Amino acid sequence: MATRTQSSHFVIILSIFAALGGLLFGYDTGIISGALLFIKKDFALATNAEEFVVSSLLLAAAVSALITGVLTDLIGRRFLIIVSSFLFCVGALILGLADGYNWLIVGRLFVGFAVGMSSTAVPLYISESAPANHRGMLVTLNQLFITIGILLAYCVNLGFANVFEGWRWMFALAIIPGLIQCIGMIFLPDSPRFLLSKGREKEALAVLNKTRIRSHVEADLKRIKKNLRQQSGAWSELFQKKVVPALTITIILQAFQQITGINTVIYYAPEIFQQAGFKSTTAAILATMGVGAVNVIMTFVSLPLLDRWGRRPLLMTSVGGMAVSLFVIMSAFFLPQLEFAPYMAMVAVMGFVGFFAIGLGSIPWLLPSEILPTKIRGRAASLSVLMNWAANFLVASVFLSLIRTVGGGLTFAIFGFITLIALGFTYAAIPETKNKTLEDLKIGWFYKG
Ligand code: BGC
Repeated sequence: MATRTQSSHFVIILSIFAALGGLLFGYDTGIISGALLFIKKDFALATNAEEFVVSSLLLAAAVSALITGVLTDLIGRRFLIIVSSFLFCVGALILGLADGYNWLIVGRLFVGFAVGMSSTAVPLYISESAPANHRGMLVTLNQLFITIGILLAYCVNLGFANVFEGWRWMFALAIIPGLIQCIGMIFLPDSPRFLLSKGREKEALAVLNKTRIRSHVEADLKRIKKNLRQQSGAWSELFQKKVVPALTITIILQAFQQITGINTVIYYAPEIFQQAGFKSTTAAILATMGVGAVNVIMTFVSLPLLDRWGRRPLLMTSVGGMAVSLFVIMSAFFLPQLEFAPYMAMVAVMGFVGFFAIGLGSIPWLLPSEILPTKIRGRAASLSVLMNWAANFLVASVFLSLIRTVGGGLTFAIFGFITLIALGFTYAAIPETKNKTLEDLKIGWFYKG
């Protein structure tokens, strides 16, 4: 039986190994902008080929999220995390050695499959292994690692920019965290809820003993079992009256995470800064590093707040702050005659990312693992993850043409209005899940309503 300190150490280690999936997700998100500058010269890529190098990953991630959803209910979250880390390594190797466009796409598809798989399985795995009072923080470790991965990628991009065929290293370095995760996860257990859903009670009890303080083990075991008895695990459960509202909320929230425009900044920050008036490339690149740093710092700040303040207040602050920042960016584009317009845009972009990081960055990943029923949680959560990648693909595909044709002012005005709608949605629909056990949420509070 674990003491309080031993159990919390174990859960933290388990969460960190799983969250390495987030690091790889972020790294592969951030690395492409730097690598692409060189690849397009080396392989003489046309614009549409260049775009496909970016978007092939997003498409593969969407498909893989769906497949993972089915598999994760059948063979478990942990096993799929191991498979995803293996795919990350294979993809990194192919990209690092690629000798032409086709191999680049093959590599990006492997990495896309890995990202889709890990972004579905990791939040489920952590949330089902964590005790209720720290669940928000532990699941958000994944988001923290995504932001660290993005920042790391920006640094690697800078570091290898002047190295011969440096782009190969940019891609290949992902093998290191991939291997660490693969090996680490082999030694970690499956989540107790998954084990119980497969009737493996002895193993589930052993994991609960390691991850909960003594006085909570029996109660948690009983609660999970009672809850599982009330679910059939059939596909039709997805369409039950009590599941549909929860599922709809998670899908819409994931869509809002993307269509409010975060990745316009993450993928295209230098372009935005240049359009806003920073003429030097160095200034634009430095401002981009600033964006990456703000993202990490504010995600870190949000970690303890999720379980203390609760999800709703954080999300309201986050989305509200993003809306204000977007309208400031819009104004900076509409008023280029102002001497300080570029600085105004820069501060507002940082504000936008900072506000995103404290709520809309993490909560859409957290909520599905909290409000969807255990036996079909994998399949149900994967629909929301699918929406995330599909919406990401949509925004990434239209943003550059939008800003180049209608200009920054109108583009950011559109994102601003979408964000206001997201604010209304958050106020009306998002439930508070702080400090409730996953079972309390399902049996009592949410489904009764
Ligand atoms: C989003 C990513 C985004 C990242 C930025 C994640 O929660 O899903 O699309 O690039 O946050 O920090």
